[in-house]
Amino acid sequence: MSLFRSRPSILLLSNLHRSIKSNPTTIFSTFLTTVGSKPYRPFLFSSLFSSSSPPPSTLEMSSLTAPMSDPPLDASLNRTIIKSIVTAEPEEWAGKKVVVGGWVKTGREQGRGSFAFLELNDGSCMANLQVIVDSGVYPLGQLVATGTSVVVQGELKKPPEGTKQKLEMKVFKVIEVGPVDAAKYPIPKTKLTLEFLRDFVHLRARTNTISAIARIRDELAYASHTYFHDNGFRYIHTPIITTSDCEGAGEMFQVTSLFSDTEKIEKELKENPPPSESDLEAAKLCVKEKGSVVAQLKSDKAGKAKITAAVSELTKAKEDLSKLDERSKLKPGIPLKDGKVDYSKDFFSRQAFLTVSGQLQVETYACALGNVYTFGPTFRAEHSHTSRHLAEFWMIEPEIAFANLEDDMDYAESFVKFLCKWLLEHCVADMEFMKKNYDSSAIERLRMVSSSPFVRISYTKAVELLEHVTDKKFDNKVEWGIDLASEHERYLTEVIFKKPVIVYNYPRGIKAFYMRLNEDQKTVAAMDVLVPKVGELIGGSQREERLDVLEKRILESGLSLEPYEWYLDLRRYGTVKHSGFGLGFERMLMFATGIDNIRDVIPFPRFPGRADL
Ligand code: 4AD
Ligand code: MG
Repeated sequence: MSLFRSRPSILLLSNLHRSIKSNPTTIFSTFLTTVGSKPYRPFLFSSLFSSSSPPPSTLEMSSLTAPMSDPPLDASLNRTIIKSIVTAEPEEWAGKKVVVGGWVKTGREQGRGSFAFLELNDGSCMANLQVIVDSGVYPLGQLVATGTSVVVQGELKKPPEGTKQKLEMKVFKVIEVGPVDAAKYPIPKTKLTLEFLRDFVHLRARTNTISAIARIRDELAYASHTYFHDNGFRYIHTPIITTSDCEGAGEMFQVTSLFSDTEKIEKELKENPPPSESDLEAAKLCVKEKGSVVAQLKSDKAGKAKITAAVSELTKAKEDLSKLDERSKLKPGIPLKDGKVDYSKDFFSRQAFLTVSGQLQVETYACALGNVYTFGPTFRAEHSHTSRHLAEFWMIEPEIAFANLEDDMDYAESFVKFLCKWLLEHCVADMEFMKKNYDSSAIERLRMVSSSPFVRISYTKAVELLEHVTDKKFDNKVEWGIDLASEHERYLTEVIFKKPVIVYNYPRGIKAFYMRLNEDQKTVAAMDVLVPKVGELIGGSQREERLDVLEKRILESGLSLEPYEWYLDLRRYGTVKHSGFGLGFERMLMFATGIDNIRDVIPFPRFPGRADL
């Protein structure tokens, strides 16, 4: 089976091994998918296990044989992935009968309506498969509109000489159709701007650009996990909801149920007004009366049945009173205490937020497991309407025990290089597309970054260089102590050095409290990796491991110690030198693809004023 030679097939094979254990039936159908329409099972298994992967145990074998007697699979589950057809040698597929499914990119009727060509794309790769349908097989008018989904069965054939396709499919059965009204379809075949497509985030993945970005994004995520796993890092899931502000910048989205709870209470009070004082008095009186009845019966030594009935009436009266009492306490409006919002009444009994970074929490695991990383969504309520900022973005944050700033920079550099190499090896077609349509230097940039050492300069040196720039007027004045703006970062990496630059040892006043204070008392052991096209790609630092210094830095940043007591405990008990960084995943995508706006490299962009879907 030559299919197994290509990387996706090998991956599929390993997934297959994994899935067979959990669900043999599903995996059986998945596997049939890749080898075509002839479900010749014994052959499949023998070829599967004659590969280099370990043979299954007897137990696994017996579970494998179980689905043999299952009813025939639905034809759509036998779907062959278009990528496996178009990336193979045509000889391997010519003459084979397969089922493919996808969405019509272009459809045109030919030969006076006697047949139609459909360019079919199933999202597995950039390339389409050309399928030919005769009018006798299906009403062609229902197939040709862009966006129509079809599942078709047919035979793969080498097209006549001189055609650009290596293979095409002659359809003999149309199994399923999801029609499109061409007059209403929002993303017709015409060239649409990325900005226009942002209004259709639910449909834009069907375009060549957004689907290519999605595949590149997926590869980068897979590459990141591969890099850290291969380097002995453990993946830690840090919380999305947090009660500590990592960057201390106060740019957090609050998580609260106070508003919805209050709305519910107000609605409820309107529909069912709270009890009056006299209602409460009456209920209290009722409890008193029922209590006296019970007492009287007991002193009269009445029968058990009578006493039990009276006690149950008393219990009921007490319950009614307690319900009324509860309701009488319901007040409209957000609960307040001493004129401030009373967060003890909130869902978590305290103020909570969406995380801006998993760093502080992942540090707790670095101080136990050694080398760890987290990779998840992070949220910032910054009101920046720039092409490089999102309110929700993904970050990869390794944390390395026993490491200093230099180790941190080494890891950051090797990680970025690994990602670039990965794309060069695994995303050729999609990267070629980006190069042709968006950024002619995209591939060259990946090559350059993956092969040249990054420049490392101190912040002080960077400022000196920028102060001497004469060929450009910066909007933001350059002087020691400023936070470098994007224009400065890009000038350093794009104009002065023309390669990635790591700037380290920033002024303490502009950086977060957790960064280690240097000997000079003026700077902290921070580093930013700047790359062409985006500027800051990574922010990181050696962490302050000295308890007394850290306490001072927290207070100096205008924060109180109380919420950080647990973080300080890491310094109280077995403190250790450690470092880490955060790579902005979407910034990496912008850098790789050459796409100018960060809103186009995340499937569902969130920014001020917009959170579609
Ligand atoms: O420099 P930042 O703020 O660093 C941290 O959050 C550290 N706690 C990371 C760590 O040491 N574990 O953010 C890290 C990176 C930036 O370099 C940038 O690439 C990206 O996250 N980033 C954003 N990306 C998109 N939209 C935003 N609003 C971003 N803010 C930061
Ligand atoms: Mg930063």
